[in-house]
Amino acid sequence: MDKARVTVFDTTLRDGEQSPGCSMNRQEKLRLAHQLDRLGVDVIEAGFPIASDGDFESVQAIAEAVRRPIIAGLARACRPDIERAWEALKHAARPRIHVFLATSDIHLQYKLRISRDQCVAQAREAIRLAKSLCDDVEFSPEDATRTDPDFLCRVLDAVVEAGATTLNIPDTVGYTVPSEFGELIAMIRRCVKGIENVTISAHCHNDLGMAVANALAAVAAGVRQVECTINGIGERAGNASLEEIVMAMHVRPDRYPYETGVVSEQIFAASQMLSEITGVPVQPNKAITGRNAFAHEAGIHQDGILKNPLTYEIMTPKSVGVPDSKLVLGKHSGRHALSMRCEQLGYQFDRRALDDIYRRFVRLADKIKHVEDHHLLELIRDTHKPTMSATPLIEPVIPATNAAVVTAPSAESARPAPETNPFGVPLPVQSDSQHEQTQQEDYLWGV
Ligand code: KIV
Ligand code: ZN
Repeated sequence: MDKARVTVFDTTLRDGEQSPGCSMNRQEKLRLAHQLDRLGVDVIEAGFPIASDGDFESVQAIAEAVRRPIIAGLARACRPDIERAWEALKHAARPRIHVFLATSDIHLQYKLRISRDQCVAQAREAIRLAKSLCDDVEFSPEDATRTDPDFLCRVLDAVVEAGATTLNIPDTVGYTVPSEFGELIAMIRRCVKGIENVTISAHCHNDLGMAVANALAAVAAGVRQVECTINGIGERAGNASLEEIVMAMHVRPDRYPYETGVVSEQIFAASQMLSEITGVPVQPNKAITGRNAFAHEAGIHQDGILKNPLTYEIMTPKSVGVPDSKLVLGKHSGRHALSMRCEQLGYQFDRRALDDIYRRFVRLADKIKHVEDHHLLELIRDTHKPTMSATPLIEPVIPATNAAVVTAPSAESARPAPETNPFGVPLPVQSDSQHEQTQQEDYLWGV
């Protein structure tokens, strides 16, 4: 059976960045945007260009550098915001302007102080302006789930007619529940004129802990775009978590027969990178990306897992990119294994940069008994200070398996079997300077 394709709209860099303590500078956002690209998201909401010069520059830099996904910029429903968003996005390969305007009475009356008629007119004008600049225009009626349904349809009719290509339905305050949200989507599909020509999207907040359940209910009701963030970060209690939505579809295709473009093996690297950049650790029991998500403590569970992982694991750690617990690196493991470990921690290095890290890693392994991931992260940051984030020493970010322990070799293992070339011929043993870069190492690097 052909599965319906669901567009993954990642808003880690916009709504996610609105979480206390999660703001990121341009370089950090760019780095994360490249990882989101590797992760395979369809849309990256890169920021809110009118909010600050820094946000504008971040959106612009991402629009210029990240060419595969759609790059979206947020704008309120007014000319200065929309023009500023377009200015930041105009060089993107696939730009999208995302316009929002609140529609619930409580927002109209107390926040915007406009009437319903004014709201419809403002939304229509804003979309017309955005459409005159960019083909791809998304509209969000903020606080949709607390908006009078008839009025919501009136606003949506107007913006579809004005040229919106995506209608995003936000549960701004995390108030709805799955059955109600599914019914709201079904009503929108029944009542809004021209709805068959636009993509319906869901944007769920987690105030009652139901963001992912609400997003999945919306998909079941016909939504074909989900807005979400890595580690579920976002305003207040956060947004629907990307990894939870995607893995629900992977693990339960019988209930969620949908596919996304997400490369699930890149999830852990994205989560680690975000945590490392913001300095905000992932909650240990966080589904999919928390360090306990694949840890087994109880004896009965450990026994079962050893006999057959299926006893207590509904997905493999590998399927979300969590490092293999059996992979223990020693200083003789070589650059390939070290490079893999760095990638799992969210870093990709070219050959020369990896050589630098490798030399320092080996020296460190000589000095301390166990080199753990947080040592490796410090070492990476230290080695590449000028190009990396200036985040101070971070909380140790320990992978879900607790297992990425890089051990210094024991006395016996300190003398490894001689390395051989691809034809099995032992290579000359190098002395103390064995970790200096040589042509031999160059040759071996790819092995
Ligand atoms: O939660 C919300 O309503 C939003 C909109 C801007 C989409 O983030
Ligand atoms: Zn939001």
